[in-house]
Formats: sequence, structure tokens, C-alpha cells
Amino acid sequence: MAQIVAIYGSPRRRGNTATLLKHAVKGAADAGAQVDEIILRDLKMSPCLEIYACKKEGKCAIKDDFHNVVNQILSADGLILASPIFFYTVSAHTKILMDRCQSLWVKKYWIDKVPFGQWEPKRKGLFISAGATKGKKLFNGVLLTVKYFFDVLDMELFGSLLYRGLEFEEDVLTHPEYLEEAYEAGKRFAKAL
Ligand SMILES: Cc1cc2nc3c(=O)[nH]c(=O)nc-3n(C[C@H](O)[C@H](O)[C@H](O)COP(=O)(O)O)c2cc1C
Repeated sequence: MAQIVAIYGSPRRRGNTATLLKHAVKGAADAGAQVDEIILRDLKMSPCLEIYACKKEGKCAIKDDFHNVVNQILSADGLILASPIFFYTVSAHTKILMDRCQSLWVKKYWIDKVPFGQWEPKRKGLFISAGATKGKKLFNGVLLTVKYFFDVLDMELFGSLLYRGLEFEEDVLTHPEYLEEAYEAGKRFAKAL
């Protein structure tokens, strides 16, 4: 059975990305996956303090909920990450998790000396995002951020669901086609693992 971790990166519990992610989780579960859900706003996670204690063994020295989250991600076959667009990138909650994974980057590229771009993805990631505006470049920044976050997790980007024009908490509910798409993507994702 495929193991998936689903990460809710929005501060809104019932916001657009949370609703989309719930549908993707349901799709994945209906396809037979075991899905563990993590709500970042409920956790205690410090930002990266850039002390590089991780240079020793690739482990972050800050003691908080990061360790449980990263262990769950690393033992899963796939990750579904959902974050709203905040200033053209991910939310602060999501970015804190990403920055703490610098310890994995240090392990991979400094300690284990994996040559850049020369690794086999062991896992897959699906990314879900929403922004209020409709500009062509709305997701340019976040897609780069997510690409390099998934790289550090030895994941390839399986796909991304990106929705423009969603501003208020329940805006996505007026687009049942987006919810259906998220459900189907969750299903396909689970089957691909
Ligand atoms: C701090 C903050 C920054 C935001 N920055 C952007 C932005 O750069 N571009 C955009 O289109 N929407 C931006 N938004 C709007 C959110 O992306 C939008 O409301 C989204 O639907 C929120 O998703 P959620 O309901 O899952 O939290 C911002 C909202 C907040 C609170």
C-alpha cells in the first residue's frame, strides 16, 4: 500500500488549498493509499537559525516538531503539499518547513557529496496552490521553490494543481471542477506510487 504524507501549509483551516488538499487526500485514499495528514499551523516549528549544526551529521539541532514531520516525509512514498501563494511564494508556515530541510540539503550535497542533478528520485511529490490574482507569472516563483524543495527530499514533481482567482476562504467551493480535479489527481498520484 502506498504511503502518502499530506501537508496543509495554509494558516486557514478551511481555506482554498485546505479544501483542495482534502479532496486530493480522499482521492488517494479511495485509490488504496494510506495518507497521514499534517497541519503545519498546529505544530511548533522554529525557522532555520542558520547555525549549521547540521554540518556534523545532517541533522537539525533545533528540538521541535520538525523531526517528526521530516521522518514522516522520508518514510513515505509520496508527498502532497498544499500552500497558498503569499507574495509569490509559499506561506510562512510552509517556508519554515522548507528552510529546516536545509539540514537534508547539507547531508545530501555536503556530507554525502551527491553530485548536483545526479540522483534518482525515490519519491514523488504533488503540489497544490491557489492565489487571489490572475497574472501569468503568479506561480513562477513558487514552482522554483517547490522544485528545489522536492529535490532535497529525493522527489520528482509528479504534478501541480495551480488555481488563480481564489481569494476568500470559500471561493474554491464555487468551482466544483477544481475539487473534482484535485480528487482525480490524488487518485492518479496514489496509483503512480
Ligand atoms: C500574506 C498574504 C500574501 C498574499 N500574497 C499573494 C500574492 O502574492 N499573490 C496572490 O495572487 N495572492 C496573494 N494572497 C492571497 C492568497 O493567495 C489567496 O487568498 C489564497 O486563496 C489563500 O489560500 P488559502 O485559503 O488556502 O489560505 C496573499 C494572501 C496573504 C494573506
